[in-house]
Amino acid sequence: EDTDKGAYPYYMLKEIDEQAVVARKIAGHYFDEDGNLQGIPCAVTDTIQEADRLYIVAAGTSYHAGLIGKRYFEQWAKIPTEVHIASEFAYDQPMLSEKPFFIFLSQSGETADSREVLDNVKKQGYPALTLANVMNSTLTREADFALPVLAGPEIAVASTKAYTAQVLVQAILAAALGNPGFDLKAELAKVAVEIQAITDEKESFKKIAESALKDQQSAFYIGRGLDAAVALEAALKLKEISYVQTEGFAAGELKHGTISLIEEGTPVFALLTQKKTAGLLRGEVAQVAARGANTVVFASESLAQDGDAFVLPEVNELLMPILAVIPAQLVAYYATLDRGLDVDRPRNLAKSVTVQ
Ligand code: G6P
Repeated sequence: EDTDKGAYPYYMLKEIDEQAVVARKIAGHYFDEDGNLQGIPCAVTDTIQEADRLYIVAAGTSYHAGLIGKRYFEQWAKIPTEVHIASEFAYDQPMLSEKPFFIFLSQSGETADSREVLDNVKKQGYPALTLANVMNSTLTREADFALPVLAGPEIAVASTKAYTAQVLVQAILAAALGNPGFDLKAELAKVAVEIQAITDEKESFKKIAESALKDQQSAFYIGRGLDAAVALEAALKLKEISYVQTEGFAAGELKHGTISLIEEGTPVFALLTQKKTAGLLRGEVAQVAARGANTVVFASESLAQDGDAFVLPEVNELLMPILAVIPAQLVAYYATLDRGLDVDRPRNLAKSVTVQ
């Protein structure tokens, strides 16, 4: 596959742009022409159906993807799901249900913390599935089952297309186990179109990055529900490559402490794609604005208001995390370029962490 940067200055930008193609590739792999799911062996779905609880184990960006997947497994497949950080689970194993099933999420398939957990749970005799971007990796070989994430080679240290691909493949697996209540294949086609629509708006995000983040040392991403999970990933993207200290968290927690950090000009990015909590989140945006924050709202079309920084095209609300993360990826990219830093190779970081 293509590991050439081509005309792109950095792999990260190329990989951000590839997300529409990746979404189509995943849909093409996991759905046949008639719209039936394919490519997930019955042994996988049968074994999961026997479980009483799913345990998603991952690190970094993959952990954030798991936080989104939890919603699909619970809402569509009706299986209670916990999401765990591998480095914690490895040494502080929580109390497990009677019939647990493990899902390892990993771009590389080599993360040492996740491997340690897989070793532990195998010794305890529990079944495990790995969803990985690199097949034939340790985590795919050592789990009972493995499914490909199909993002293609990801070279930039900051993960982008592997995240969206992991979210998509979890949605497909959950659909194979239950019922999303809508035509997932048709909706994924729409997701691909809308990813492209957002990545076509690079100039907007370049301007947002310049105006909101120039000379800033810290920033915040807030959201509620699925947007709170995306806020964690959005914040990680910005901080890991631009070195702007960024916190991502559930907006309702602002008032319990963090709001004291807001000063004149502090950038607060709000992700607003979930209808049920949109009103509350608007209130939180107003509260930080009243304390001087420079608020930047990325809202889905039906929830957008005048003054929002970018209007996200609308797909099924549960799939909005796939679209909502893209502005954050692009803002992180341009903020890092503005600072004259190496976007693809941030200091102190490795693409794959094979030590504990
Ligand atoms: C490293 C990478 C992250 C990645 C994490 C987990 O820290 O820099 O981008 O999310 O490892 O890696 P994995 O390959 O297991 O997804």
